[in-house]
Amino acid sequence: MITLALSKGRIFEETLPLLKAAGIEVLDDPEKSRKLILTTNQPDVRLLVVRATDVPTYVQYGGADVGITGKDTLLEHGMEWGGSGGLYQPLDLQIAKCRISVAAKADFDYASAVKQGSRLKVATKYVAIAREFFASKGVHVDLIKLYGSMELAPLVGLADAIVDLVSTGNTLKANNLVEVEHIMDISSRLVVNQASLKLNPEPIRRMINAFASAIPA
Ligand code: PRP
Repeated sequence: MITLALSKGRIFEETLPLLKAAGIEVLDDPEKSRKLILTTNQPDVRLLVVRATDVPTYVQYGGADVGITGKDTLLEHGMEWGGSGGLYQPLDLQIAKCRISVAAKADFDYASAVKQGSRLKVATKYVAIAREFFASKGVHVDLIKLYGSMELAPLVGLADAIVDLVSTGNTLKANNLVEVEHIMDISSRLVVNQASLKLNPEPIRRMINAFASAIPA
């Protein structure tokens, strides 16, 4: 049995065509079903639906053999663990593409604040990524950890800026925020538990190869 962990939402939707190309069809609809283990047309492949930030943890500890998760989540997880966390990352699936950026209110002069060496209050759920980014620029920051709706923080004076994912830019625009720095491009990655790969190399290799040939050009 191969167990694949992934999260609901964009990554799930964009993974379905890849699974299909790999010959795997999900028999339950995760948006309708309350089941957390989804069966597929392949008796030896099942899916776990977990929180996005939990995917690396499931794969690291062998609760799942394989996982699909964003580079953002993997980096943040790896930095907390001081390394790859025992995860083998064979593939960039080129799906759920977006970027991590710094954004601030349109009337906040971020460039001047940085130039003057001001201490910035930055709200984010990507504390490790933000810490490393601002340290590399020599910018002093007080990081405020949030778990969602980061865009609110500058609007209510909780922070001067945020570090968050930007895809279409619509959320920033709707909240009168602008991107002031691009930190990195993001896409989803396939991750594999190294012990699973050693114990069960054939079906896992087959799955990696099937995904590799299904990646959008
Ligand atoms: C992400 C991110 C932004 C939004 C950006 O949130 O945190 O809020 O998407 O997308 P856009 O540029 O296309 O508007 P998501 O919906 O994934 O939920 P989250 O707050 O749980 O991260």
